[in-house]
Amino acid sequence: MLNFKSPKALVFALIIIYNLLAARTVSSQGQLQVGFYSKTCPNAESIVSSVTQKTFERDPGSAAVLLRLQFHDCYVEGCDASILIDKGEEGERKASGNLGVGGFEIIAEAKAKLEGICPGVVSCADIVALAARDAVALVKGPFYEVPTGRRDGKVSSKSLADNLPEVDDSIQLLKSKFRQKGLSDRDLVLLSGGGHTIGLTACFFMQVRLYNFTPGGGSDPAINPEFLKQLKSKCPFQGDPNTRIPLDPVTDFIFDDQIFLNIKNGFAVIASDARLYDDENTKQILESYVSSAVGNSSSSGPLPSFKADFAKAMVKMGNLGVKTGSEGEIRRVCAAVN
Ligand code: HEM
Repeated sequence: MLNFKSPKALVFALIIIYNLLAARTVSSQGQLQVGFYSKTCPNAESIVSSVTQKTFERDPGSAAVLLRLQFHDCYVEGCDASILIDKGEEGERKASGNLGVGGFEIIAEAKAKLEGICPGVVSCADIVALAARDAVALVKGPFYEVPTGRRDGKVSSKSLADNLPEVDDSIQLLKSKFRQKGLSDRDLVLLSGGGHTIGLTACFFMQVRLYNFTPGGGSDPAINPEFLKQLKSKCPFQGDPNTRIPLDPVTDFIFDDQIFLNIKNGFAVIASDARLYDDENTKQILESYVSSAVGNSSSSGPLPSFKADFAKAMVKMGNLGVKTGSEGEIRRVCAAVN
């Protein structure tokens, strides 16, 4: 037993406590911390998950909408809920890369409930990250701890969203856009593959891939010929651009690794998913998850776990450019700065 009356033992104990606190800081993500609201708003996470779950029961498509929302939030100005600010035609929401992004009203509902019990405490940015996590779990994806403590940004501008990855970008461009944000090739495969294992795309995003692909001006040769017929019949040339089709036609409401098999076999729906097979590095990463799906171990070691790796990549994405401490603010309503 340590005798704290001895100065040496006291110093020893203080060093241990210091080291424990330092380890805790390292295990939290940057300045964020799991359980940030445990004292200031203990029900924060359960309120977000109950709103997410109730919405999901009414509309199972909402899970995909919430997952996509976090990506589009984090990519522009960091994960600071800037995408939720309603600033009319010049706001971030109206950028072409944000076409079809939604879920604003779900976040607003959770925020209103939270303001009712702990006003001015829980940021909209944290609600976005928590709701995406809950959404993934609802479609049988992994559940992961979300470090919280983000503060909300005060800036929203359409031009800041100019650089969002686009569906017809080359793999080199997709890789470099992710790298600019500190996201690796593996993160690109995990996050866009994982994101697109659920949800829908508008035919609008299929037009170039089906009818005006470069080079050649026809359709993307990476599409399986039988599947091409099906895609063309669902999204005809000059048909309704708003028709929506599943991104993973095999298991569209389940979060699983089917998407990687789809991509490998020419059944990717949107072009940016197909492009993951164009590059040696992203192809190898993708194939490692296909192997782990079918249980084929390779000589290079144990198989990676798609769900566990996706969860890690989500936490990493959720840490992009976060505002903490005295930066930003805690918005009263998510659609407007205070
Ligand atoms: C390589 C970068 C990416 C590109 C080019 C891209 C592109 C797209 C496009 C064109 C759609 C269809 C949108 C619509 O018609 O409403 C879509 C949907 C979706 N994306 Fe991505 N995406 C990318 C990365 C991600 C990431 C990183 C995530 C999340 C981690 C994600 C999650 C989703 C989800 C869940 C949907 C379905 C939304 C719904 O059903 O409303 N995407 N994406």
